[in-house]
Amino acid sequence: MASIGVSEALTAIFGLFIFGYLLIKKTSKIHLLDWPVLGMFPGAIVQLHRVYDWSAVLLENSNLTFPFKGPWYVGMDTLVTVDPANIHHITSSNFSNYIKGPEFQEYFEYFGDGIINTDSDLWKDLRKSSQIMFNHQGFQKLSMSTATSQLKDKLFPFFDHFAEAGKIVDLQDVFQRFMLDTIFILVTGSDPGSLSIEMPKNEIVKSLDDIGEAIFYRHITPRVIWKLQKWMGMRKEKKMIEAGATFDGVCAKYISAKREEIRSQGIAHDDHSSGEDILTSYIELDTTKYKLLKTEDDKFLRDVILTLTSAGKEATAAALTWFFWLLSENPNVVTKILQEINMHLPKCERGQERLPVDNVEYLNKLVYLHGALNEAMRLYPPLPFQRKTPIKPDVLPSGHKVEANSRIFIFVHALGRMRSVWGEDAMEYKPEPREMDF
Ligand code: HEM
Repeated sequence: MASIGVSEALTAIFGLFIFGYLLIKKTSKIHLLDWPVLGMFPGAIVQLHRVYDWSAVLLENSNLTFPFKGPWYVGMDTLVTVDPANIHHITSSNFSNYIKGPEFQEYFEYFGDGIINTDSDLWKDLRKSSQIMFNHQGFQKLSMSTATSQLKDKLFPFFDHFAEAGKIVDLQDVFQRFMLDTIFILVTGSDPGSLSIEMPKNEIVKSLDDIGEAIFYRHITPRVIWKLQKWMGMRKEKKMIEAGATFDGVCAKYISAKREEIRSQGIAHDDHSSGEDILTSYIELDTTKYKLLKTEDDKFLRDVILTLTSAGKEATAAALTWFFWLLSENPNVVTKILQEINMHLPKCERGQERLPVDNVEYLNKLVYLHGALNEAMRLYPPLPFQRKTPIKPDVLPSGHKVEANSRIFIFVHALGRMRSVWGEDAMEYKPEPREMDF
């Protein structure tokens, strides 16, 4: 029998891939080919450049739930769902069976013991303590005064400057900086000053970007490969290690300054009258009520700062960026928003400032603006997916079985585009209320 040479074997493999690729293209409305050994990975990787739009088509054509098969033995098998009944089951009616899980914690390890990376009793302590802090009058006061001063003293003058100079500015970068400064004041009490007309390089912005990017790549790279890259200090993993070190250095300075400030001022427990940042609240926390929170440990405080800064800044800056992009594409929506604002805001003489208003009462009247923001987040959700792991095997309302410790992705980005959920006009930006089937 004639033996097959290396070049023939390579040609055959290459041919098989081309054939598979063409087959996937031709039938992409319904199928993703499941290869021996490689699973659906090759088909997914060729769509990586448009993974969001492509996944939406795939899910719409798969009755809202798709079992993705990764290469054998690398742990990438994932049940991807946008079925509202499944989502309700996982996040609400059977919530106690669905956790982030050890694999999630490995992927997000840089967040340490931050709330977005923890489960069970530690998560409960973090959740309860942060809810009390966020709802506290002192923090609410700080939130309102910080947002107002960041808008009036920084963002508006910044826009005026660029408008008068007729210069173009990258709005995404501006909102990232604006939100970083705002959130960082709420979390640490200090302004990193990243938003100014010079657009200075900022080590916090850069390190958060690098950490976020490396975590994204971990999700689309076989685990063994990113682990190896981490061990060898290569590529995105190298950037993440460097970014983590930079962020730790920045946090160490803020934490020791805050401890010193509290020591010198001797702030008492529960004296939040002047408006208190989260770092101060955690340093002063009565830990007899939260036994798992190690507030005397700087590493714990660093995890709190990283988690809240990252969660708060990224989500809000992304929401603002997409919202203003959608407004630029939909001038009719801008007209309606302005009409609503003018209808409810007290009138003023030309050149004078408008009369002060009760912010909460006034905001509650802006229902169209509220709808416009929600609609922007439906089409462009700031957190495009959530992942969950069942503790025990379960059957989802869609009939899909899930094993203990398996991976489930709720693909929030695709969810907002499902015609079967939102109607035939799902892709249109329409702030008016929609008629829903559920
Ligand atoms: C437009 C703005 C925002 C959006 C759309 C948003 C969205 C979300 C979503 C979808 C989750 C759930 C993630 C999951 O369970 O996997 C989440 C969790 C979280 N967000 Fe936000 N967020 C926003 C702003 C903020 C801000 C300003 C902060 C804080 C400063 C924040 C802090 C958190 C925290 C700490 C969690 C974890 C909660 C927990 O695990 O119990 N977020 N956010």
